[in-house]
Order: sequence, then C-alpha cells, then structure tokens
Amino acid sequence: MKTKKSKQLFDLKGKVAVVTGASRGLGFAMAKGLAQQGANIVITDVLPTAKAVKKIESLGVKAMGLKVDVTSPKHIDAMVKKVVSRFKKIDILINNAGIYYPTPVKDLKEKEWNKLIDINLKGTLMCSQTVGKQMIRQKSGNIINVASVAGLMAFAQSAAYNVSKAGIIMLTKTLAAEWASFGIRVNAICPGVFVTDMTKGLLKDKGFQKMIKASVPLQRSGTPDELAGAAVYLASDASSYTTGHFLVVDGGWTIHL
Ligand SMILES: NC(=O)c1ccc[n+]([C@@H]2O[C@H](COP(=O)([O-])OP(=O)(O)OC[C@H]3O[C@@H](n4cnc5c(N)ncnc54)[C@H](O)[C@@H]3O)[C@@H](O)[C@H]2O)c1
Repeated sequence: MKTKKSKQLFDLKGKVAVVTGASRGLGFAMAKGLAQQGANIVITDVLPTAKAVKKIESLGVKAMGLKVDVTSPKHIDAMVKKVVSRFKKIDILINNAGIYYPTPVKDLKEKEWNKLIDINLKGTLMCSQTVGKQMIRQKSGNIINVASVAGLMAFAQSAAYNVSKAGIIMLTKTLAAEWASFGIRVNAICPGVFVTDMTKGLLKDKGFQKMIKASVPLQRSGTPDELAGAAVYLASDASSYTTGHFLVVDGGWTIHL
C-alpha cells in the first residue's frame, strides 16, 4: 500500500509536457525524466529534434518534435496550436532554452546583451504567456522555469546571464502570484554546474575544475540525469502545495548564501 501511494505521488501518466531547448542537455534529461513517469513529451528546439523524439518514444510514451525559436512569437503560437491540436491540452511547460557566453562588462556589446536577454528571459516570458493562456482556459497547468545559481550569486564576466537568471526567478514568483487562482503553479529550478554542451569548455579548464572541487561541497559537477528528479517533483502532485519556489540543485555550492 505504501509503495503504491508513493508511486502515485510522482505519476505523470497522461500528462502532456512541452520542453523548450530539449534536443540535448538538461532539457532532454528533464524531458526523459517526465517521460519515465508516463508523460507524453513535446521536444522543441532550434536544433533538430528527431533523435530526441525517438529516444523518448522508446520509453513507451507519445512524443512530438517541433522547431521552435523561443524568441519568435510566430513559432510559439504555432507550437501551442500544434500541441493542442494533437494532445488537446498542455499540462506542463518547462522553459529550459538558454544560452551563455562570457564577456567582461566593459566589452559587452548591446547586440550580445539583447540576444542573451531575448532568449533566456524574454523567451521564458513569451512561452509562459502563450502557453499560459491555454492553461488559463484549462484552469490547470504547471510551469517550470530553468534559472541558475547565477541568478543567486554573481559570476564575473557573466552580467547578461546572471541578470537573465535573476529575472527568471522574479518572473517565476510574479507568475505564481498572478496565476495561482487559475490552478497554475509556477516554479523554478536553479542548477549549479552540470556537464552539457554549454559547460564542456569551462569544465576542461583546470582552474575551473579546481574551483568546483574547492567550492562545491559534493566536490563535483552534476550529470544531466541528476536534474530530472527536481523536474519530476515540481511537475507532479508531489509538489501540489509548492508555487513561486526556486529549487536549487547544485551539490551544495550555494549552501552559505
Ligand atoms: N549546464 C549547466 O551547468 C547549467 C547551469 C545552470 C543553468 N543552466 C541552464 O539550463 C538550460 C539548459 O542548458 P544546457 O546546459 O542543457 O545547455 P545546452 O546548450 O546543451 O542546451 C540549451 C538548449 O537550448 C537550445 N536553444 C538555444 N537557443 C534557443 C532558442 N532561441 N530557441 C529555442 N531553443 C534554443 C539549444 O539549441 C540547446 O538545445 C539553460 O537555460 C541554461 O542556462 C545550465
């Protein structure tokens, strides 16, 4: 009896989840985690989605791939129409698409600032708005925004990224406050350092490796699969009384904040 109950707590069977930037990396790992709990998955990305879709389908759920640039209102509108036409609803949205590049503030070009803020922060807002309107019609929904520990502590040479992630945390709280009455929960995840295409250059650097060992209590970076549990928790009824929260998954890096 106890086992059955705890299984139901994280069950996502029949749910429809849209994950942005999910062809690879953390987005794919979270999509896979939700699929393993029974959710049907929509993989969206500017990169090809076919391989990721195939891997998700091999888990026994339905999957769909869509080319979506999160800075394009046209793409986002089309995404919602296509998903609702096939699945009739959207239960979960994970705003994961993001980019990072290091630049000292003194050299930061307006164009670079705009591009990063457009993808990371405005993309999260626009996908939430458009999918949110569908969720408001349904009177239910669950949005998970991928922020970062960079939204909590300042990393040098990363002004646009830090600001975009701090903005995502405040956007999460604001949406949670506005949409609770529609049955929509909105939470964020703040990952520490995970091994993905985004960080592979940094992780090759001996100084960075040394810093991780010294500053992260678990003394290592995370693997993408280690983020899946946080997404499953926030997407499922296990977190039914949690909204406007940011869940830090960082091996203890921010323990002293
Ligand atoms: N890897 C880490 O250590 C780490 C730490 C904290 C936060 N994050 C965040 O996690 C998220 C995923 O990052 P990742 O590490 O998996 O990196 P990644 O580069 O492997 O994945 C990012 C994905 O976003 C997609 N993308 C980029 N621009 C897009 C756009 N305009 N429209 C749609 N998709 C777009 C990329 O094609 C890619 O598939 C990002 O938001 C990142 O900021 C990562």
